[in-house]
Amino acid sequence: MKRLLLLSVFSLLAVSGFGAPGAPFINAAAREALSLNGRWHVIVDPYDNGYVNYRLERFDAAPKPTGGYFLDQKPANPSQLLEYDFDRSPSLNVPGDWNSQDDKLLYYENTVWYRQLFDFTPGTADARQFLHFGAANYEADVYLNGAKLGRHVGGFTPFQFEVTGRLKPKGNSLVVRVNNQRHPEGVPTVNTDWWNYGGLTRDVRLLETPATCICDYAFQVQPGDAHLVRGYVQLDGGAPGLPVRIEIPELKVAVTVQPDQAGRATFEFALNGAELWSPEHPRLYGITLSAGADHFSEKVGFRTIETRGPDILLNGKSIFLRGICLHEENPLRGGRATTAAEARQLLGWAKELGCNYVRLAHYPHNEYMARVADELGLLLWEEVPVYWTIHWDDPDTYANAENQLTELINRDRNRASVIVWSMANETPISTARTAFLKKMVARARALDPTRLISAAMERHSPQGDTATNIVEDPLAEVTDLVSFNQYIGWYAGLPDDCAKANWIINYNKPVIVSEFGGDALQGLHGDRLTRFTEEYQADLYRQTLPMLDKIPQLRGMTPWILCDFRSPRRVLPNIQDGWNRKGLIGENGTRKQAFAVLQEYYARKAAEAAKLP
Ligand code: GCU
Repeated sequence: MKRLLLLSVFSLLAVSGFGAPGAPFINAAAREALSLNGRWHVIVDPYDNGYVNYRLERFDAAPKPTGGYFLDQKPANPSQLLEYDFDRSPSLNVPGDWNSQDDKLLYYENTVWYRQLFDFTPGTADARQFLHFGAANYEADVYLNGAKLGRHVGGFTPFQFEVTGRLKPKGNSLVVRVNNQRHPEGVPTVNTDWWNYGGLTRDVRLLETPATCICDYAFQVQPGDAHLVRGYVQLDGGAPGLPVRIEIPELKVAVTVQPDQAGRATFEFALNGAELWSPEHPRLYGITLSAGADHFSEKVGFRTIETRGPDILLNGKSIFLRGICLHEENPLRGGRATTAAEARQLLGWAKELGCNYVRLAHYPHNEYMARVADELGLLLWEEVPVYWTIHWDDPDTYANAENQLTELINRDRNRASVIVWSMANETPISTARTAFLKKMVARARALDPTRLISAAMERHSPQGDTATNIVEDPLAEVTDLVSFNQYIGWYAGLPDDCAKANWIINYNKPVIVSEFGGDALQGLHGDRLTRFTEEYQADLYRQTLPMLDKIPQLRGMTPWILCDFRSPRRVLPNIQDGWNRKGLIGENGTRKQAFAVLQEYYARKAAEAAKLP
């Protein structure tokens, strides 16, 4: 029985409303009562005919809607006019994007209506039920049995609606309008170098909990003190004062905490003899949490991450981040990766490359990625899609970006693998931009004071002096890492220019090169100066690595990118054909020459690190 301690940090979080009821439950998989994955009937609706009438008035805005596909009606008699019928409509897989499931929808960017029917009998009379979505790109309007539950904007983070008392034993109709149109004021905005996959791209679950349940919790080892865990638990329901018990049998930890009237309790306990989590030893511990009738388990690794000058310290020891960038795409299928098996495949390839770190670009990937990275021993950089030129002055754009950041941190805060929250990618410096991003950094720090904060910034050269590369960004004053993308040898000059390059990076902080690389069509061969050949890409790597090694604060890198990926911006016939070819692995899974170049470099880095005290 460990002493109970109330701690200020997490009371602060209570004030900020984080983890408040209504937010998606953490560890939703542990609450699943019914998976709603599978084949869903769909209606492709480019004119939003099921959403607005010919006057463009929304059907669901009416107090008693008389039209709208969400009503999922059937003609009461042969003379009743109904011009849609889900049962006779085609179907798609959920989870999954629609673009890779039907060639006619490859470039489709608009509305698709999804409908699933399900039966459900509550486990107990006072149980509660929630519809949980892992994500839907880009906006989702959700209806149950003809009534609107709500709406979510943002394509890569979870959301849920409570449906207690709204379910029927048989034939519940769940209808979701998903629209992936791009908007200038959106996050991301209209221009990206990845495929705008639309749909119910992640798991859909019906969750069931007791009347009062644990909806959120955090276990975090404090930077600088690897043997002290601090955390909180948050209850949701009518009995906020229910005692909560936390047990880690392997560590003989058993803590009972007493939540306050808001259902919140904080705690602290010592980690006696725990093995700290690291890529070499991805040690996870089973934890059980219970409050009244609520009882479930979780797996957590304990580690510390911090910086000291130019060093990154994992569990107090300096580390070099041997990384690679990754999109949430299965190249072999050419669609969104949605399963634990696909996460294992992609992260397994990164391990094979010799990585201890992966940048999940440019948006929150599915939850399996972080959980599999916990198991495999890969450190992660996670990012929100504040990409290129979003509307910095628009308060709604900011609210959208901040909400995506909050939902991401809320979901993955207990993942040992996650060490960096990234606010943005390649955003042009301006006063409005920097103010926007500094607010995001402050929000991230308020939500999670235990991880590193960064963003993928840019370098520039003085007029007429392309050999000099300067990294200077007001945002770097508030980030823990100085990360930047550079494409010397591809967008700027040729690989031979790497040897002449010099760097001016006046920050006593760790430098992470968050992108570099060049396109190569797997199987295309030629001399090292012929673009798009494997030889050019391999030479670019051979010349870039020693160039970067000259940067004294260099503590890691994530070359662009592990696998070729789809992009509507890449149209070179017989070379790109809708694919960005900067992968080290082709769309058919075959390694390119540069894969071995980086693998060899990482093997040397790992050997050097193994020699360090
Ligand atoms: C950019 C960007 C990536 C893009 C890459 C490329 O820097 O961050 O999203 O795909 O470069 O041009 O291939």
